[in-house]
Amino acid sequence: MCGIIGFSGAGNAGSKQGNCESSVDIVLNGLKSLEYRGYDSSGVAYYDETDNKIKSIKKSGKLVNLSAELSCIKPVESNTAIGHIRWATHGRPTDDNAHPHLDCSGNIAIVHNGIIENYAVLKNKLIGKGHKFITPTDSEVIAHLIEDYMKDGAKTFYEAVRLASLDLLGAFAFLAMNADEKSICAVKYGPPLVMVNKDKEIYFASDVSPLIQYSDEVIYLKNSEIAYFKDGLLKLTDFKGKPLNKTVTKIDWDASRAVKTGFSHFMQKEIFEQPSCLLDAFSSRIISVKNDGSAADSNKSDSIFSGFKIMLEDVRLTKKDIDKAGRIIITACGSSYYAGLVIKYITETICGIPVIVEYGSEFRYENFPVSKNDIFIGISQSGETADTNSALEIAKEKKAGILSITNVPGSQITTMSDKGVIYTHAGPEIGVASTKAFTTQIMCGLLLALRIKEIKDTASDAGKNLSGVNFFDEIVNLPKKAEQILFLNDSIKEIAKKYYKNTNFLYLGRGILYPIALEGALKLKEISYIHAEGYPAGEMKHGPIALVDENMPVLFLLSNNMLAPKTISNIEEIKARGGKVIAVADYEPDIDGISDIIKIPASAEVLSPILYTIPLQILAYHIAALKGTDIDQPRNLAKSVTVE
Ligand code: F6R
Repeated sequence: MCGIIGFSGAGNAGSKQGNCESSVDIVLNGLKSLEYRGYDSSGVAYYDETDNKIKSIKKSGKLVNLSAELSCIKPVESNTAIGHIRWATHGRPTDDNAHPHLDCSGNIAIVHNGIIENYAVLKNKLIGKGHKFITPTDSEVIAHLIEDYMKDGAKTFYEAVRLASLDLLGAFAFLAMNADEKSICAVKYGPPLVMVNKDKEIYFASDVSPLIQYSDEVIYLKNSEIAYFKDGLLKLTDFKGKPLNKTVTKIDWDASRAVKTGFSHFMQKEIFEQPSCLLDAFSSRIISVKNDGSAADSNKSDSIFSGFKIMLEDVRLTKKDIDKAGRIIITACGSSYYAGLVIKYITETICGIPVIVEYGSEFRYENFPVSKNDIFIGISQSGETADTNSALEIAKEKKAGILSITNVPGSQITTMSDKGVIYTHAGPEIGVASTKAFTTQIMCGLLLALRIKEIKDTASDAGKNLSGVNFFDEIVNLPKKAEQILFLNDSIKEIAKKYYKNTNFLYLGRGILYPIALEGALKLKEISYIHAEGYPAGEMKHGPIALVDENMPVLFLLSNNMLAPKTISNIEEIKARGGKVIAVADYEPDIDGISDIIKIPASAEVLSPILYTIPLQILAYHIAALKGTDIDQPRNLAKSVTVE
């Protein structure tokens, strides 16, 4: 959703140590890193040292509009500033509705991410007390509410912010700055807020990506916490005012991974990073052991565990937990949900444990019977998706065990995961459409399934049909195979040229590749705005076949397994109706009339979804590039969906 940034410190107006840029430059730079979170308008408020006033500059449209406006007023002498990039909820994306919002006096400025559910009630009350509102947004109410508490005698700006926070309902993370004190308060209740505090300076952001250039040690605010920065000192309290200790989280992301490095788009770069991200996801988590009985258990030599061991020390599941549960429930949204569907297939195949996959947004309002014995797995790139986290909170209230697969260290999902966190180690994902996060989630899901099987019972019948699979070799060789697929980039671009003017697409797959059909269709619609549907191939004749004619390209995911003859029959049915067939296949299918074929390396079935995903990402990318859409920031989408 929206991105917020703040800085206070030495700056260009302060001491010689510390960051010598103006706070406005720092905030503008931060907004550039957060552009993927919201991009319909943006703004900055800064404390102007020359006249001791808060100045606010806001522009609708992309961040370049704000940069252009700011370049006209530079140089600015300021050491305290806040900024915002908006994804509109209440009020159209106009200059006025952009954040920051000011109070009546102009001494308080706020930037907000989230939704204030009781804003109308608060606004009416404040209007009754003489406050003048200039926007229809829910956020403006925060500035006036703080002002009101100041007028009512709050001794410090912090105290006014604390009291205002207690009045707010909904989900909110905001920064509030005050001209009289030259202080900033950060408040979190729902959406994320992270800080770097060093050398009497503070940097605030809605996620870690703009902060890693300043430090790899960050502080995550937790729900119902307030950070108050004044005169170079940081104080942390809860909403009741109780002082709290700072917990520092180390981020192992390399700042250079958040720049495009020669690629046209972040999405393209992130697609091409997948071989190394996959390697990072499994290296040190799967280790080779000898089969002579010295290191590996000899009774494993004929099982799927022959020759390797899974090292997922962060997973705190016991055999008793797994036996008592008898099932696993995965909850996630969007692409992470599709990764969950793949992990269901993998887990059921390897462990023989039934897995239920639920959308976070559905789970939270349905009457799903949760038992305290249940094991939940939350999957989320950002770790901040409101629907996923709310579903997990419900499970947690019922005392179920929570595990998570996420990309962001210290994110909210990690704080709920009493049974452990598996980090995908994909590094910052800036493109709004998930790519490397998705494939590494599947890799982590596979490692987790192997670990569960290891804990549960390596000798059980479940997974026996996989005994011919050399998992160690398959996993270790996967990055090389992913790289081979990247070499198909130019030929996939040629295919894109044939189809980018089409207005509809069908993606079909069976079994473990069905979720990849869903993911392929989602990628295409997200970034190219072409309507695309993913379906299980066997369901085609139960409805979607009515859509098929010469204008409907149908992309099949075809694997050389026992389902191949059935999928080939479906291809024949499409051909018979004049539909154009594109196939992604791990073998040369013996069938005529496929218009385009993308041949990928073969792998064990449980790993194949990762490989089948990559050509679909590349195809969607090139189709979108040919259409000239905004690939990294597709219309209406936000990277991190922190509101319902
Ligand atoms: C699709 C996409 C979204 C996210 C979804 C969940 O390309 O990026 O569908 O997968 O919003 O986000 P996370 O994984 O952060 O919970």
